[in-house]
Amino acid sequence: MASLVSISGPSSVKISSITGESSTYTPSRTLTTLPCPRSLQTSRSQHKGLSLVWQPEKRHTFSTVRASALPVSQEAPTQAASGSTSTSDGASKKTRVMVIGGDGYCGWATALHLSKKGYEVAIVDNLIRRLFDHQLGLDSLTPISSIHNRLRRWKSLTGKTIDLFIGDICDFEFLAETFKSFEPNAVVHFGEQRSAPYSMIDRSRAVFTQHNNVIGTLNVLFAIKEFQEECHLVKLGTMGEYGTPNIDIEEGYITITHNGRTDTLPYPKQASSFYHLSKVHDSNNIAFTCKAWGIRATDLNQGVVYGMRTDETEMHEELCNRFDYDGVFGTALNRFCVQAAVGHPLTVYGKGGQTRGYLDIRDTVQCVELAIANPANPSEFRVFNQFTEQFSVNELAALVTKAGMKLGLDVKTISVPNPRVEAEEHYYNAKHTKLIELGLKPHLLSDSLLDSILNFAIKYKDRVDQRQIMPSVSWKKIGVKPKTVTV
Ligand SMILES: NC(=O)c1ccc[n+]([C@@H]2O[C@H](COP(=O)([O-])OP(=O)(O)OC[C@H]3O[C@@H](n4cnc5c(N)ncnc54)[C@H](O)[C@@H]3O)[C@@H](O)[C@H]2O)c1
Repeated sequence: MASLVSISGPSSVKISSITGESSTYTPSRTLTTLPCPRSLQTSRSQHKGLSLVWQPEKRHTFSTVRASALPVSQEAPTQAASGSTSTSDGASKKTRVMVIGGDGYCGWATALHLSKKGYEVAIVDNLIRRLFDHQLGLDSLTPISSIHNRLRRWKSLTGKTIDLFIGDICDFEFLAETFKSFEPNAVVHFGEQRSAPYSMIDRSRAVFTQHNNVIGTLNVLFAIKEFQEECHLVKLGTMGEYGTPNIDIEEGYITITHNGRTDTLPYPKQASSFYHLSKVHDSNNIAFTCKAWGIRATDLNQGVVYGMRTDETEMHEELCNRFDYDGVFGTALNRFCVQAAVGHPLTVYGKGGQTRGYLDIRDTVQCVELAIANPANPSEFRVFNQFTEQFSVNELAALVTKAGMKLGLDVKTISVPNPRVEAEEHYYNAKHTKLIELGLKPHLLSDSLLDSILNFAIKYKDRVDQRQIMPSVSWKKIGVKPKTVTV
């Protein structure tokens, strides 16, 4: 039995702001397991590098603290005003949204946005993303506060409480307790290991990624079936599930005529890392349970997210979001902005013709709210391609170079050997109309936005560790033995 029992602190916490005002934060529900390496252990000091050990047999237990949820009607919800749900007797209740992975980049911004919009929000997270940073010797460009301080600050600024359940969704007992306690109308599931390079470091990270992501999602499906069958699952997938086929990419399904017969079938998936494959496995499991159990689900095949600020994270430095620029967790445009800010040449992989869908983080939060406000029907497995524009890596490098020059930066570009196995020049045309039809108003990548991301990167450039910029994980050299990434 793993020794992983922990109980959260006091039921209310007195806090004072730097401006002198004070307030009391009283979490209405807190459920805690140790934010723990269920399956990962560091066997060397982080300064000397890292080894991870996969220990699936070790399970942990949890303790419930102050589980005091009010019962919510089990009747089928229909959407009323923003953040509320109408029941068949005409009553209007706040829609209860569980944000799994709510301490991460997309999840934190989304949790605040939904709370501001009047939804009743609970964050479920095991904080393992913070642990990955410690283990790999990485750090967010921006200083980020602890989840507890973040939530206290949110409460003091807005008067709104976000419930917190710290634990691992691969632990079904823990997840079951969170469902019974919070009784969500919708679950937004961001809570996965989300880096393709991380999943390609070595066997233990590949196995961890697939276990964490596939079992976590399977547990969410079972929890909905068992405890909250009207609950709408909004699951974050990725555009990377489709790969780069030489035909247009549709939104989830394609109609095919074969030997004179026609059918509409799931669009073929050609994932290109163990991480992307975990998302494909998730999609298959979700589609199956929609059919078999009548689960209502929306799979958001998200493009690459860029940017930093949302209206809510801008409200106070303690609400600041994370911003990854390193070779393992950093994503294309965010990385280029940091590289330009510190005078590092922009690292284009190979020929740079790799084209993908991109979106501003302000559109991530908007899309998720649109999906929640317009839920899928029972048994429906709905797929939206969640991005707003397509760019090749070369196009992004050119845009950042131009924006950098305007700010007086000397921006250079280098081609580095591509660590991935992927087409470097290819056809790419992916549909993305369904969220627009629901009302998405995209924030496109204008000059002013690039200026603002670059200025942001310049503000924090002293925190950049340039040793983390070059790619350190090779798709072809993936090893069996636990590998050290940081040098
Ligand atoms: N960031 C992007 O550009 C991008 C693009 C496409 C899709 N996505 C998807 O969006 C989701 C969120 O991405 P992100 O960039 O915010 O990632 P992130 O790593 O910043 O956040 C993920 C959060 O989930 C938590 N988590 C992971 N496994 C968990 C578990 N077993 N139990 C409880 N919590 C767990 C982590 O601690 C972390 O806080 C992911 O599913 C990712 O695949 C992200």
